[in-house]
Amino acid sequence: MGDTVRIGVLGCGRISDLQVQGYLAHPRARVVAVCDVDARRAAERASAWGADRVYAELDRLLADPEIDAIDVLTPHHLHAEQAIAALEAGKHVSLQKPPTRTVAELDRVLEAAARSGRVLRVFENFMHYPPHRKAKELLDAGAIGTPISIRIKTAGGRLTDGWKVDASSMAWRVSRELCGGGATTFDHGFHCYQMARMMIPAEVERVHAFIHWTKLAPGVDYDGPALISWRYAGDPPRMGSWEVIASLGMRVRSKYYVSDDRMEVHGTEGILWVNRCTGQLLDEPSLVLYRDGETRAFHDLETDWADSFRHGGIDFVDALLEGRQPALDGSEARKTLAFAIAAGRSAAQGREVGLDEVLAGGPES
Ligand SMILES: NC(=O)c1ccc[n+]([C@@H]2O[C@H](COP(=O)([O-])OP(=O)(O)OC[C@H]3O[C@@H](n4cnc5c(N)ncnc54)[C@H](O)[C@@H]3O)[C@@H](O)[C@H]2O)c1
Repeated sequence: MGDTVRIGVLGCGRISDLQVQGYLAHPRARVVAVCDVDARRAAERASAWGADRVYAELDRLLADPEIDAIDVLTPHHLHAEQAIAALEAGKHVSLQKPPTRTVAELDRVLEAAARSGRVLRVFENFMHYPPHRKAKELLDAGAIGTPISIRIKTAGGRLTDGWKVDASSMAWRVSRELCGGGATTFDHGFHCYQMARMMIPAEVERVHAFIHWTKLAPGVDYDGPALISWRYAGDPPRMGSWEVIASLGMRVRSKYYVSDDRMEVHGTEGILWVNRCTGQLLDEPSLVLYRDGETRAFHDLETDWADSFRHGGIDFVDALLEGRQPALDGSEARKTLAFAIAAGRSAAQGREVGLDEVLAGGPES
């Protein structure tokens, strides 16, 4: 690795504007090339980010010797083959969540990473969101005793608000074949399942889910409302739940997608609340701690959802420069992916699903 990490962005769609913020902010990183099958979009992003090379084909991007790392930001059905090709071309890879549609696909990516000796990180931004990071720091310091329960709520709002999302960005998401599962309970869910694993340090063992598919238009189904619950392994008994509320007539204040995520972590001696993430549904402090009859609010945290992308980008560059593995590594991402698949399988088959069943592989995993 030279003095500067030279990044090539593969896929210049909706999320790419946020994804590059850490690279643009880092003094030792540069976005040097972009690649997208949509030439106009690629040219616009290259000009905005100061990238001097624009490619339409992955092969040409990967043949560019002056690129150290590829950030994969394409629809999910393309992730596995593109990440494997990038690793085989000798590039480090940041692969957007969910890394792949199945555990079997992810295993092929992990094998390619091991063969190449290059860094593979799966990017999940909620883990870099400053209120979440502060909550984790407080949990690890014992601020609420032993965490024993987590409850997450995602409220979807009316689709006419928020940022402009191109129809093409939604089209592949509502195809279970291309997305890998539901746009909410699989795609967005990867964040919430990761939070469940990050905030309570125990393995998720069993998952149960109710997922209702709401018809928005002919052929367009939205997977909400949904209620997903899980049990962690071992003692003390610990459980969690994630509720998706399809409040599609409600205004959700958001600069980004019209949904917001709130979280409550209950411990043996106190409670922590994170009151916002993607949007700004409520004007409460982003983080609140209750313990011993006293409530403490944190007002000095960065709270814009975009901050999570910036911190995540900076972490990737720092990790490459320092020669360390950035989060998420393959085995952690694999467990979160299995969690997401278990939820979908539970709802489809009307039964509780053990994570070991999904992690063991097989054609459906
Ligand atoms: N972390 C988050 O909160 C978050 C939010 C949104 C999206 N994402 C993830 O980011 C990724 C991209 O999502 P998006 O919303 O930006 O999608 P999008 O559809 O808006 O953008 C995808 C881009 O990939 C391009 N593309 C398609 N096939 C290609 C190919 N073969 N070669 C090159 N380019 C190709 C498309 O033209 C498009 O510009 C997905 O993995 C998604 O789950 C993450």
